[in-house]
Amino acid sequence: TRVAILISGRGSNMVSLIEASKVPGYPAEIVLVLSNRPEAGGLAHAAAQGIPARAIDHKAYASRERFDAALDAALRAAEIDLVCLAGFMRIFTPGFVEGWAGRMLNIHPSLLPLFKGTHTHAQALAAGVRLHGCTVHYVVPELDAGPIVAQAAVPVRAGDDPDSLAARVIVQEHRLYPAALALVAGGRARLEGERVVFSPEAA
Ligand code: GRF
Repeated sequence: TRVAILISGRGSNMVSLIEASKVPGYPAEIVLVLSNRPEAGGLAHAAAQGIPARAIDHKAYASRERFDAALDAALRAAEIDLVCLAGFMRIFTPGFVEGWAGRMLNIHPSLLPLFKGTHTHAQALAAGVRLHGCTVHYVVPELDAGPIVAQAAVPVRAGDDPDSLAARVIVQEHRLYPAALALVAGGRARLEGERVVFSPEAA
């Protein structure tokens, strides 16, 4: 399975996916990294690993449609099977998302459907939940709303602030995303309509 990772920033989840993909037998190969921000730290790391990595600067495009079209063209030129969003901070047009339906994953730093959008750790602390975590889900046009592939939970501890909670969650993100991608790329989880169907050994 040929995978592209889309980033906007430091790319620590990207690194965890690249590392996992080097393990013999891992069912996905990371063949392209794209960023909408030229300054994204993750681009240099990917390039150093020998993975084609480049920016498609959203500021260079007059509209969301044109930016998404450029992204789509780059993905198709590289014959990508599956797209992994990893800290990618742009909202797509519905047309782009529909073109990759069932073939695009995202990681979100909360236990969805709780705490969509940004500042999820502050949202969790404000809500007073005692469990928080992260979710890998299929991408649908509605933000942070797609069918769930995998989740990991962490405790909220007395005295947590958003940073301490984020630090606990990101450790789980780095474990969860490679595991979820393996399920999807290995054919053990797939989207059927609006539900994820798991094969018996995965569930
Ligand atoms: C992660 O917490 C991810 O869940 C969220 O943005 C952060 C990106 O971190 N969407 P990184 O760029 O993967 O280090």
